[in-house]
Amino acid sequence: MTAAIVDGRAFAERLRARVAEAVPAFTAATGRVPGLAVVLVGQDPASEIYVRSKQKATLAAGMASFEHRLPDTTSEAELLALVEELNGDDRVDGILVQLPLPAGIDDKAVIDAIDPAKDVDGFHVVNAGKLAVGEEGLVSCTPLGCLMLLKDRLGDLSGLEAVVVGRSNIVGKPMAQLLLRENCTVTLAHSRTRDLAAVVRRADILVAAVGRPELIRGDWLKPGATVIDVGMNRLTDADGKTKLLGDVAFAEAREVAAAITPVPGGVGPMTIAVLLRNTLAAACAREGLPEPAGL
Ligand code: GUN
Repeated sequence: MTAAIVDGRAFAERLRARVAEAVPAFTAATGRVPGLAVVLVGQDPASEIYVRSKQKATLAAGMASFEHRLPDTTSEAELLALVEELNGDDRVDGILVQLPLPAGIDDKAVIDAIDPAKDVDGFHVVNAGKLAVGEEGLVSCTPLGCLMLLKDRLGDLSGLEAVVVGRSNIVGKPMAQLLLRENCTVTLAHSRTRDLAAVVRRADILVAAVGRPELIRGDWLKPGATVIDVGMNRLTDADGKTKLLGDVAFAEAREVAAAITPVPGGVGPMTIAVLLRNTLAAACAREGLPEPAGL
């Protein structure tokens, strides 16, 4: 078997286009555009790239982008004061504080300070709790993007065996909750799981989010599985060239799986597209408008 490639880039472009098409109706109803505030503290090069692409995508979708760049000498109190200001700013529907934050600033204290209604990352404990108990709330962008790819490919996920490898608050845990909400039988595996290969072999759906390059081998997979690879491991080879590897050994997995996301071009582009979707959804909820259909 040679697995089909799940083209996250193309799916993300279509989602971004649907968001952009829904913005004028929001503006007609409210007299304003949805707004996303992005806060970057310090000069982490990877974060700089992410933040720039988030701003570009926000503007391209017809939304307002409010950019806040703070030096790495910023104190936690100063950052909390900015978050408070953004919570109270009616033009701002979504607040994203780019992680990781510099040493000395407590990520959790900052995330907890964001108004849950504006928490377009879905990281706030209120939104994580809503997801866990099955209430509507904002859901973390990467796992929601993975779920969209899975539903697009497989339709109804009810009764399928889903294995999530990685238990982070940002990807693994919310991914497991989303799959449970879709009536999958969910196993949440992690670095201490015994005989990970045997656990992975149960999966009709495998979501790999452990951050270990090519940890998951082709012969671990159940034939016909659908594989979503969230891994983005940047490696430098002997010639000094960098390449991006997933958590799954792609060439091997392609011979066994029915469908697989490539790295890059799979899950990565979905994160920003879902961020735009969440910003529009947050804006609609704040204005008491129904969420646009098809998002
Ligand atoms: N750093 C890496 N990915 C993300 C993300 O999705 N949101 C935030 N806030 N920071 C990140």
